[in-house]
Amino acid sequence: MGSVLFRRIGELVTNDPAAGEGPLGVLHDAALFVETGRVAWTGPDDAAPQGAGDEVVDIAGAAIVPGFVDSHTHMVFAGDRATEFAARMAGRPYAAGGIETTVAATRVASDSELSGTLARLTAEALRAGTTTFECKSGYGLAVEHEARCLRLARAVTEETTFLGAHVVPGEFAGRADDYVALVAGAMLDACARFARWVDVFCDEGAFDADQAGVVLDAGRARGLGARVHANQLGHGPGVRVAVKARAASADHCTYLSDDDVELLAGSATVATLLPACDFSLRAPYPDARRLLDAGVTVALATDCNPGTSYTTSMPLCIALAVRELHMSPEEALAAATLGGAKALRRDDVGHLRHGARADLAVLDAPTYLHLPYRPGVPLVGATWKDGARTPPTGR
Ligand code: NIG
Ligand code: FE
Repeated sequence: MGSVLFRRIGELVTNDPAAGEGPLGVLHDAALFVETGRVAWTGPDDAAPQGAGDEVVDIAGAAIVPGFVDSHTHMVFAGDRATEFAARMAGRPYAAGGIETTVAATRVASDSELSGTLARLTAEALRAGTTTFECKSGYGLAVEHEARCLRLARAVTEETTFLGAHVVPGEFAGRADDYVALVAGAMLDACARFARWVDVFCDEGAFDADQAGVVLDAGRARGLGARVHANQLGHGPGVRVAVKARAASADHCTYLSDDDVELLAGSATVATLLPACDFSLRAPYPDARRLLDAGVTVALATDCNPGTSYTTSMPLCIALAVRELHMSPEEALAAATLGGAKALRRDDVGHLRHGARADLAVLDAPTYLHLPYRPGVPLVGATWKDGARTPPTGR
């Protein structure tokens, strides 16, 4: 693997306060040296290692940010729910039951159809600067289908999450506890080897606190880390369940009580906010300011799925976080990079400190401020992962 020297970077966001200005560790007129896929040096351009780099890339004054870490997606599915979206925009409420539509389509889809969708969405995310992403199962809801979805997800990311407890499938209607026993038993047995994480949708219309606890405990007993879909549709026990399970992340957090905020602040559980989901549901946005001001670590993620958030765009999430969640551009970029890494308990991504994976996005813009300032514009000119341009064209 060759070395690469990035020269004339107008603004380099390292997320290393020791390397540059402010919490984002910003350097101006900078250079970045990458060796064997890792960050080997950052500093002023005029101090760049002379003659270094098998390849020298002239950034010509543009900005570089760490690659986005999208810590919450559901990208293994078939079909789409555009008509459900249109009906919702005409006033029909969202209910978790829409998940069943995707489950039916996913179960009859071939492996190659599911992998094709995954490949298309992965490529789309990469073009928009995402270099690490998590991917959940949850549209199979039967032993062989959940295992198949995770096996396919594993082929595109190591951050795979078992979400057998997404909703109770139709064939178990009225027998939720039997389904929970299946999830926590035979389904986990078949799925655990393809997963790093276990997740549960703990909300009205999905699973209650006791059922969620059973699933998370069973997952943790098999060595999986916990994450929870919490407090999306209303006030409820999700955050409490997540903190009790020492989950890496409580996701959505749209409806929070004072107790929930306090619990999160006193824990190592990241609050992962999914503003593109709230946008697509025309739901209220979470109170990010309250979380940040209480000292909670916040991540931003897309929640990419065909029902509530059919987008792979982390720049969109950043724009929404700034405009609608009242996060500063600095907080939003940190949440979309370092915050996502913390939600996945990773320290090799989400920043460009010495030794980090050389995962980065070159912006067609002079500053990261353009991410929220120019919403809806494809601002990522090139994405580099492990020190390689992906795809191998562009700036
Ligand atoms: O994160 N909340 C649960 N799961 C997804 C929605 C899935 C769907 O509607 O298909 C979410 O929003
Ligand atoms: Fe989700």
